[in-house]
Amino acid sequence: MNCFEIAKKVLDRSFAKIEGSQEEKVKLINKRISELQTAYGNLDQKDGVDYSDPITQFAYIYKYTTAHASYVCTLMEKADRKDALPTEGKIKLASIGGGPGSDFLGFLKFYNSSCYSGISAISNSFDKDSDWSYCWSKVFEEARECTEGEEACSSLSTNFHILDVCDPKSTQRIDDYTDSDIFTMIYFMSEVYQFRDKVAPFFTYLFSNIRKGATVLFIDNKTDRYREWFDFFVGANGYEVLISGEDRWVPSFDEQKAVLGEYLTLLKQNPKLQGDIAYRVVRKM
Ligand SMILES: C[S@@+](CC[C@H](N)C(=O)[O-])C[C@H]1O[C@@H](n2cnc3c(N)ncnc32)[C@H](O)[C@@H]1O
Repeated sequence: MNCFEIAKKVLDRSFAKIEGSQEEKVKLINKRISELQTAYGNLDQKDGVDYSDPITQFAYIYKYTTAHASYVCTLMEKADRKDALPTEGKIKLASIGGGPGSDFLGFLKFYNSSCYSGISAISNSFDKDSDWSYCWSKVFEEARECTEGEEACSSLSTNFHILDVCDPKSTQRIDDYTDSDIFTMIYFMSEVYQFRDKVAPFFTYLFSNIRKGATVLFIDNKTDRYREWFDFFVGANGYEVLISGEDRWVPSFDEQKAVLGEYLTLLKQNPKLQGDIAYRVVRKM
């Protein structure tokens, strides 16, 4: 399974949805990529990133989705070596701040390249931005098509849920999913850190109610305050830390940006490959 290939198919559909001539679209997308980069460099000062329009969604998927999916797959390989992942039957994934589906792609890539088979995967993604649901459904459709006939996941179902972790009602909305097997928080805590007072009740509820034995995967910028915030909830709610590190990661060798074809030429810029990240794998005791 190749995430750049899936991203390219989703980008083709998204590009068609953006209004204007090719030249205008390219200008808008490049402007949005640079706005996203600026926003991610100043996450604590902004009002939050707005992902609601198709240009931003294209920019995000082009620039970030494959790298993030690939990091998730790498972290799952590490977690698997510690026996931290389920390997058979029904596996429920809950992605908090799942965006266009990068976490899910990484999850699927891991299981499809593993030696496991006969898995029935149920993926639930929670995000405040309902406009992601279009990209989410396309990512899922393309992923299902690209992995048809592959051994690991004999059945695959996904759901997109609108959930704003700043909303006091978010704890009720996550309640039915605390029995999931794997939780992902990928480049999510950095995005809501500036609202930490409002978000604390959600994380306190989630971390204390996640079922015993479930695994939480965390990847974020290598900035002390984000990982320390994650570590705080882990320490306060009875988790075993299985993996903890900071490093520079790149996508696996089978992910080649050349697959993005004409967009590389049109946009004249590369997707993100390297990431200076902090990562964790923890298990509820
Ligand atoms: C940097 S993106 C990460 C998306 C995905 N996990 C990935 O790695 O590609 C952060 C995500 O958090 C979502 N988000 C931001 N604030 C949120 C909130 N208050 N509640 C839920 N989701 C939120 C955004 O809509 C966005 O999809």
